[in-house]
Amino acid sequence: MTESKTSSTNSLLSKAWVYYEQGPITQILQQTSIPIDTELGLNELIIEIKAAALNPVDIQIGNIPQWIANWILFTGVNKPKVPAADFSGIVYKIGNNVTKYKIGDEVFGLNFSLTGNGCLSQYIKLSENLPTLTHKPANLSHIEAAAIPLAFLTVYTALNNWGGFQNDDTTDQKVLILGASGGVGHIACQMARAMNKYVVGVCSTRNIEFVKQMGANEVIDYTINDIVSASKEYGPYDIILDCVGGTQLIPYLNSDFLKSNQSIYLTIVGDKTSRGVMGGVASYIFTPAMVFRSLKSMIGLGPRYYCINLSLTEENTNQMVSMLQKGMIKPVIDSVFEFSNHVKQAYERLDTGRVKGKVVIDFDK
Ligand SMILES: NC(=O)c1ccc[n+]([C@@H]2O[C@H](COP(=O)([O-])OP(=O)(O)OC[C@H]3O[C@@H](n4cnc5c(N)ncnc54)[C@H](OP(=O)(O)O)[C@@H]3O)[C@@H](O)[C@H]2O)c1
Repeated sequence: MTESKTSSTNSLLSKAWVYYEQGPITQILQQTSIPIDTELGLNELIIEIKAAALNPVDIQIGNIPQWIANWILFTGVNKPKVPAADFSGIVYKIGNNVTKYKIGDEVFGLNFSLTGNGCLSQYIKLSENLPTLTHKPANLSHIEAAAIPLAFLTVYTALNNWGGFQNDDTTDQKVLILGASGGVGHIACQMARAMNKYVVGVCSTRNIEFVKQMGANEVIDYTINDIVSASKEYGPYDIILDCVGGTQLIPYLNSDFLKSNQSIYLTIVGDKTSRGVMGGVASYIFTPAMVFRSLKSMIGLGPRYYCINLSLTEENTNQMVSMLQKGMIKPVIDSVFEFSNHVKQAYERLDTGRVKGKVVIDFDK
């Protein structure tokens, strides 16, 4: 296990990447050591992190204005905030009543925190009852496992919970995936294909082969095609899953694009196009047009349209493990960066908006 120092009898010093003030994450991050309280509640455990994956939401949380962080989220002034939600690691210590895990178990999951209790720390403390914590499948490395949870849970929430796709023999269902090569999109292609659906992916020229490898039956190159006419050609769709944001297709959600009144347009971003600000359901607050669109859809006066967030349920987590164990989904790693000194470079890479798959931090380096 990684060398660590004991700061007192009741705490452990954990190397971590933290920030104190809100701002651009590549500028505010610094490396330090934070104490982890080793006095555990009955159902708590400490996990030694082996890998963590980065997501655009880490950058967006860093960009939340300081006053919102202080007065609405109560993140704590001068408290170190640790970013990142996706992790894989080893159980280091357990509370007296922990039954699901034992010391040495390999685990992975999603520890989403708006208040800076994230995973870019050698050790983290969680409850064994966190619905998105589970045993790591043996067929995945820590790097691969860390790359999965947020992307998988987002895609499963969209395709299954909202879109009604099942892993069955219904081969006549079709999905259009905007942003098919990114962290979420590449998992969406794989999952839809694993569920026997017809997949149309949208990406740029350099990612065409990659998106085909991820399972797309058809690929639309957004750099040389008009998205509206190109996606109409392959439509209509049961689900349109937007992992990019914007409103390009919104005016066209008629029977050329959505197959029936059960078909649905799902965006995980919203109308916004800036990568730096928080999307998902938070976009409703700042975009009345999205609220009207969803309300119209709810009362049957418009196409089904919803902006959604991932659902952090145990049921979805179990589905994740099952599909991973069966080899139906495999993460693609865009790049791996060292925890010791290359975390800022990792966020710079993610912030380009050009990653293919996932950016992961290796805690052994
Ligand atoms: N609501 C939720 O619960 C939820 C959950 C997860 C993520 N999200 C949000 O979803 C978005 C995507 O997340 P991510 O992790 O997939 O991001 P990402 O990995 O950074 O996405 C990068 C990918 O986007 C592609 N892309 C950029 N512009 C495009 C365009 N106009 N058309 C098609 N593809 C385009 C890029 O491909 P090219 O290089 O080929 O352009 C690249 O492969 C982020 O805004 C994130 O915050 C929301």
